[in-house]
Amino acid sequence: MATSPASSRPVPDRITLTQPDDWHLHLRDGAHLAAVLPETARRFARAIVMPNLRPPVTTTDMASDYRERILAARPAGSRFEPLMTLYLTDRTTPQEIERAAASGFVKAVKYYPAGATTNSDSGVTAVERAMPALEAMQRCGVPLLVHGEVTDAAVDVFDRERVFVERVLAPLVARLPGLRVVCEHITTSDAAHFVLESGPGIAATLTPQHLLYNRNAIFAGGLRPHYYCLPVLKREEHRKVLVECATSGNPKFFLGTDSAPHARHTKEADCGCAGCYNALGALEFYAEVFEAEGALDRLEAFASHHGADFYGLPRNSGTVTLVRERWTLPAELPYGDDTLVPLRAGGELGWRLL
Ligand code: NCD
Ligand code: ZN
Repeated sequence: MATSPASSRPVPDRITLTQPDDWHLHLRDGAHLAAVLPETARRFARAIVMPNLRPPVTTTDMASDYRERILAARPAGSRFEPLMTLYLTDRTTPQEIERAAASGFVKAVKYYPAGATTNSDSGVTAVERAMPALEAMQRCGVPLLVHGEVTDAAVDVFDRERVFVERVLAPLVARLPGLRVVCEHITTSDAAHFVLESGPGIAATLTPQHLLYNRNAIFAGGLRPHYYCLPVLKREEHRKVLVECATSGNPKFFLGTDSAPHARHTKEADCGCAGCYNALGALEFYAEVFEAEGALDRLEAFASHHGADFYGLPRNSGTVTLVRERWTLPAELPYGDDTLVPLRAGGELGWRLL
């Protein structure tokens, strides 16, 4: 037994939880998919797979093909289940939403404001244009997953989430009160409070990097491109609120890694890509957050119960075990013909997946 820093209660050296799911994940495609899928499939039974491929996954047929490619890329014996999403555009029709809802394998639709992040140029240019599809989603019970940042160049990059909540999200939720919404990878106390004060149909995912780091991590001793993701890391006061939400036991908050791999040379560049690859060590990073709060007993609900309950899916029946054991994250990993730098590359983790 060790002692938890926050509570000085003894904490266990081994924890077994219901197998968790990742409710926000980028798996990419082809050789890149094959490179990253095994780490996710080791830890998680299911994942909500983001549709921001090139071209984006905008139809149920495309989602079906992508799902087949993911299933084919699973390591031998893996029963990992990809839960598919559609990419919302100005032209998504209510008929396409109905097809998605009837498919059984499309579980949600993702809203990227056009230009907000990686491969988002086909995203929604004005929420008004997507209204027929959004109304169909409300009607069919298909959750909307939101990348909540405005793209207005006049808005400071650190304020884009707060302004999105005010200008876009609050009016949308008021207009479609039956629409189920997951605010993905929230980074501010503004978004956290919006979720806390909304009804039970409004939830949020939280990433390891936004729970573990504040924006100083991007500038620690120099420019650190592997800590650059979108929404960008925020001030410490925001991180503290996110940690409170994650560890509170509130079912509105659940695990979504936003693991977003990019080849090393595309991040270490004049104009580097946004995204942290955290699938390696994902559950272990969360365990570190919960342990520091003296809340390891709430990790299972956050990682394995709340998301499934929100999506109306059964909780998993298997278990995973974490043991207290220090290990060093590799400096880099193979990524098809490229290499990939994991979150906290070369650093240590205090929990290891058995
Ligand atoms: C994601 C990616 O690379 O696909 N990047 C990121 O910084 N999170 C896209 C996204 O979720 O914004
Ligand atoms: Zn993402």
